[in-house]
Amino acid sequence: MKTIGVLTSGGDAPGMNAAVRAVVRAALAKNMKVYGIRRGYNGLIYDDLCEMDLRSVSDIIHRGGTVLYTARSPEFKTEEGMQKALQTCQKYGIEGCVVIGGDGSYRGARDLSLRGVPCIGLPGTIDNDIACTEYTIGFDTAMNTAMEMIDRLRDTSQSHERCSVVEVMGRGAGHLALETGIAVGATAILVPEVSYDLDSIIAKMRKTQKSGKKHFIIVVAEGVGHVEELAKKIEEITGIESRATILGHVQRGGNPSLRDRVVASEMGYDAVELLEKGIGNRVVAMRDSKIVDFDIYEALQMTKPFNINLYNIANEISI
Ligand code: ADP
Ligand code: F6P
Repeated sequence: MKTIGVLTSGGDAPGMNAAVRAVVRAALAKNMKVYGIRRGYNGLIYDDLCEMDLRSVSDIIHRGGTVLYTARSPEFKTEEGMQKALQTCQKYGIEGCVVIGGDGSYRGARDLSLRGVPCIGLPGTIDNDIACTEYTIGFDTAMNTAMEMIDRLRDTSQSHERCSVVEVMGRGAGHLALETGIAVGATAILVPEVSYDLDSIIAKMRKTQKSGKKHFIIVVAEGVGHVEELAKKIEEITGIESRATILGHVQRGGNPSLRDRVVASEMGYDAVELLEKGIGNRVVAMRDSKIVDFDIYEALQMTKPFNINLYNIANEISI
């Protein structure tokens, strides 16, 4: 392949810029022409792209967000949108694409590959909810941001002897909530993967109160939600003043951590190596801490295990 494109799609994630940089630099090092496609698949539909050179990706490795912008493109899911995207690829001679995003973006990459533009998916989402990979770009930064924010909530909860009920992102998955919850010493972690029982949480709070605990943190994944309602119920039943906080989009911003920059760089490089060999319809993933790749179709059939062992540990030691 001599000409490729790169785009970021779906929710942004810290480290996407590092991945774009790696793709551009690797492509140029291999004497390939590389286009930066703006606003996800919309850039292909609306002919919004530009040729990248070495300096197009200077000073972005440390920046959150994505310099290519991102979007959700419902039009791309239609045959008409797809045909427009294919025409743009033909116009610029784009023979393959690197798509950085979540599993929705992978479905788009699969569809484009099936129509003759081989794509490589890179896992970019703070949710770490992509089945084929144990790690997604942005997860480490988001976990650390959520942890830091909850540490701050802990200070004020401690001063007021309150219960803090905090919602963290994760879409339908509880991975971000689990890791953050154990790191902040939460009394309870509520995730969509495991059903919860308010009575047991209250019983645990009462028990720990008896041994001297005066403030509480309960981490709730957004897939469980209802933090306001939960805080109200806890206050009514226990008499412990409770406050609900939704951390929200702050978790998606910020400078990427070292881990996100390194993983993004390695995955971005590997994606270009695959395209260089003419290989498409694959996703780059991490398995046993090694970078590997899978067929997109197979990757989309996989299911992600939830770390129930860590969940049980968190539960047992938060006493
Ligand atoms: P994520 O990639 O983070 O999971 P989305 O699910 O919003 O985010 O998907 C991002 C974009 O990928 C969508 O806006 C759409 O352009 C494209 N996409 C998602 N699902 C499909 C699909 N089934 N077919 C083609 N394109 C899709
Ligand atoms: O997938 C990343 C994510 O931040 C999820 O955690 C969350 O559910 C969703 O995106 C929020 O999307 P939006 O930016 O459209 O509000």
